[in-house]
Amino acid sequence: MNLTITNLCKQYHHADGPVDALKNVNFSVNKGDFVTITGSSGSGKTTLLLCLAGLIKSTSGTILFNDFRIDSASDKQLSGFRMNNVGFVMQSFALIPYLTAIENVMLPLAVSNIDKAQKYNRALELLKLVGLENRKNHLPKELSAGQQQRVAIARALINKPTLILADEPTGNLDPALSIEILDLLKSINQSQAITILMVTHSPLASQYGNHKIHLTDGCLS
Ligand SMILES: Nc1ncnc2c1ncn2[C@@H]1O[C@H](COP(=O)(O)OP(=O)(O)OP(=O)(O)O)[C@@H](O)[C@H]1O
Ligand SMILES: [Mg+2]
Repeated sequence: MNLTITNLCKQYHHADGPVDALKNVNFSVNKGDFVTITGSSGSGKTTLLLCLAGLIKSTSGTILFNDFRIDSASDKQLSGFRMNNVGFVMQSFALIPYLTAIENVMLPLAVSNIDKAQKYNRALELLKLVGLENRKNHLPKELSAGQQQRVAIARALINKPTLILADEPTGNLDPALSIEILDLLKSINQSQAITILMVTHSPLASQYGNHKIHLTDGCLS
């Protein structure tokens, strides 16, 4: 896996005037990298992740995932690309409140044609991986914050992604739970060679990266 970002720009159009959220960003990421993205609030970190996921369109520049052009792909190609390659982990966990832990983990496979038993078994394997097999039938509100984030990480792995995009995955967790989640991400990164791009405000979290990116007002610095 290789991800190459060249001269990436993103301008948002707003009634109050244009916002240049990313300005000529260049970097590349290799298989197995753990990339941390830091920068102050409003510096363009989330915008960068959204562009890389193809969830918003960049204004100019190229984003190449192996030989797939994320920046110019159609919505249909992008949803296939995300389904086959990308796992997401967000600050707010984004679990569905009325689904149990294991149902949440299985959710990204809802539209796939894998049979139900196989989905269930894979989700159970992942809950084991994150140490939550004994909480599989709990609803999100019946789990601690760290456990909820571990369910979200298991869910991000269900489609066997090559790339995990994480936006402040420890933003809502206390320091001890943050270390637990960061260690889990690191072990996934190392044992399965899954590439991770992680946005973070925390100096502790940024130490986990082997490749550190800092954004200042939309520019790499
Ligand atoms: N949909 C939008 N329309 C217009 N401007 C936007 C939009 N989304 C973000 N922006 C602006 O783009 C800039 C970058 O926003 P972004 O969310 O990428 O920052 P961030 O680095 O993730 O910040 P934070 O650390 O607070 O999450 C900000 O100045 C923001 O106000
Ligand atoms: Mg953000």
